[in-house]
Amino acid sequence: MLRSMTDITKRDTTAVPRGEALLHDPLLNKGTAFTADERTALGLTGLLPPHVHRLEEQVARVMDNHRNKQTDLERYIHLVSLQDRNETLFYRVVVDHIEEMMPIIYTPTVGQACQQWGHLFRRPRGLYVSWEDRGRVESVLRNWPQRDVRVIVVTDGERILGLGDQGVGGMGIPVGKLSLYTACAGIDPARTLPIMLDVGTENEGYLRDPLYLGLRQKRIRAEPYDAFVAEFVEAVQRVFPDALLQFEDFGNQNAFRLLERWREKVCTFNDDIQGTAAVTLSGIYSALRLTGKTLREQKLLFLGAGEAGIGIGELIVSAMVDEGATAEEARRCCSFVDSHGLVVKSRTGLAPHKLRFAHDLPGAPDLHAALEAIRPTAIVGVSTVPRAFDQRVIEAMSRMNDRPIVFALSNPTSKSECTAEEAYRWSSGRAIFASGSPFPPCRLGDRLFVSGQGNNSYIFPGVGLGVVACRARLVTDRMFSAAARTLASLVLPSDLELGRIYPSLTRIREVSAHIGAAVAEVAYRDGLAGVARPPDLLAMVKAAMWEPVYRKYA
Ligand code: NAI
Repeated sequence: MLRSMTDITKRDTTAVPRGEALLHDPLLNKGTAFTADERTALGLTGLLPPHVHRLEEQVARVMDNHRNKQTDLERYIHLVSLQDRNETLFYRVVVDHIEEMMPIIYTPTVGQACQQWGHLFRRPRGLYVSWEDRGRVESVLRNWPQRDVRVIVVTDGERILGLGDQGVGGMGIPVGKLSLYTACAGIDPARTLPIMLDVGTENEGYLRDPLYLGLRQKRIRAEPYDAFVAEFVEAVQRVFPDALLQFEDFGNQNAFRLLERWREKVCTFNDDIQGTAAVTLSGIYSALRLTGKTLREQKLLFLGAGEAGIGIGELIVSAMVDEGATAEEARRCCSFVDSHGLVVKSRTGLAPHKLRFAHDLPGAPDLHAALEAIRPTAIVGVSTVPRAFDQRVIEAMSRMNDRPIVFALSNPTSKSECTAEEAYRWSSGRAIFASGSPFPPCRLGDRLFVSGQGNNSYIFPGVGLGVVACRARLVTDRMFSAAARTLASLVLPSDLELGRIYPSLTRIREVSAHIGAAVAEVAYRDGLAGVARPPDLLAMVKAAMWEPVYRKYA
């Protein structure tokens, strides 16, 4: 049955706790911003220093402390502690300083936090569901205090950013990702839930570390693993039936299979595959505004044929097909190099997800040889191999193209295939460059270059917002293509002039609202929405956005 919007945007009306308990509830706490009347009414008098601060003054104090820290990891710890005390203030800080905060609460700093999870641990956040809980996963989910969860991000920690198996330390990723859902798209933090599925780890260092927080066993694999994930997904449907379930940083041998198994049955997507694809496709659309060429004229060469690479390839194929190409023609425009060289038909033992891009071409042992064979218009690095786009590669691309498209998307920064400065210098300023982790602006002669960050945060928060706002039953590729087109349309001519093919992150909430509306439009068109269509989708989406402002309690 279709529900009204009031049902969707209404918060749980739980009673506000009093006194000390209120100060320890991060969703409700206002710290020194409780007014005199609130302090009297809620039994807080004397529990706080007497001066009442405004939210803006609290933000100034946080920023002072933040900037005085010596390292980004200390800044991360400072911010997470704030989040544990006062979520409204945390999100005000993040939203108002999004460009400064995003590299701290997400990649690259969150990667360091994951690597030291057991050593940094202070307070738990989210749910840890372990292999030991098999057979009673539903009862574990029921321990979560909030019932009305709308977005879940789950990982099993096997492929965290480009850092490999982080075991239970991978929990930093769902936590960080959900912070971005709230900061970038206004998903109510009370309706979000990070989950770690702990099925063990192959990371010997962690297995030997006395402070490691996860199960001390090798990863569960194959059928027992699939059965455990199935128990989890089915339990989520019963306990949190309104939740979008986002899979994050699973190893690629599991990620593709899980996506195929669940995408038509439950409201789910995999950001590494589909979100990355959409943000990259959007970058290509923007780059084409600079080259004046069409998508169908592009030849893309990917370094790395994992979740990100294959996901991007599949979405580009579907976008080219939308523009009139046959699937066969479109696939021929996308070639892949993996650790064994160019992916071609004659290679044996190719993983299933690579087969559809295995072309009938002579083999090439490495990227340099593949470049000469394919002569691409764009190279996309999703390999986790630092420095793989060396001077020879960029110079070859510049020889073949007036404006070579170079995307070095591997995260964190230490894994990037090249830096922004290298791409501009080696191409004499002609490269159209984007990276996965941010690079600072750089100068070449008297020209300033501000490179774009192909950051999934441009896409997934808006997609989640659209899905949640219209209560879509499924998340489809057409929604991601719509998100990519919408994002590219929001890049300003002034961005393009600086070489930036994504909008400024400072506009992220506006960007997410437009993407949300575009995603909802697809949901209504394809009969997937669960609420009656309002006259104005953008207004509907904006009305569903949570703002980090204090509520009045008295
Ligand atoms: P993955 O583990 O699924 O795939 C990595 C691929 O790189 C595999 O196909 C592997 O064979 C290949 N590879 C490894 N060594 C190689 C070598 N020496 N030469 C050529 N290929 C090699 O990982 P996934 O999910 O595809 O991610 C890859 C990278 O992309 C990560 O660093 C990740 O952080 C980054 N990424 C960036 C995003 C963004 O910028 N928006 C989003 C998602 C991922």
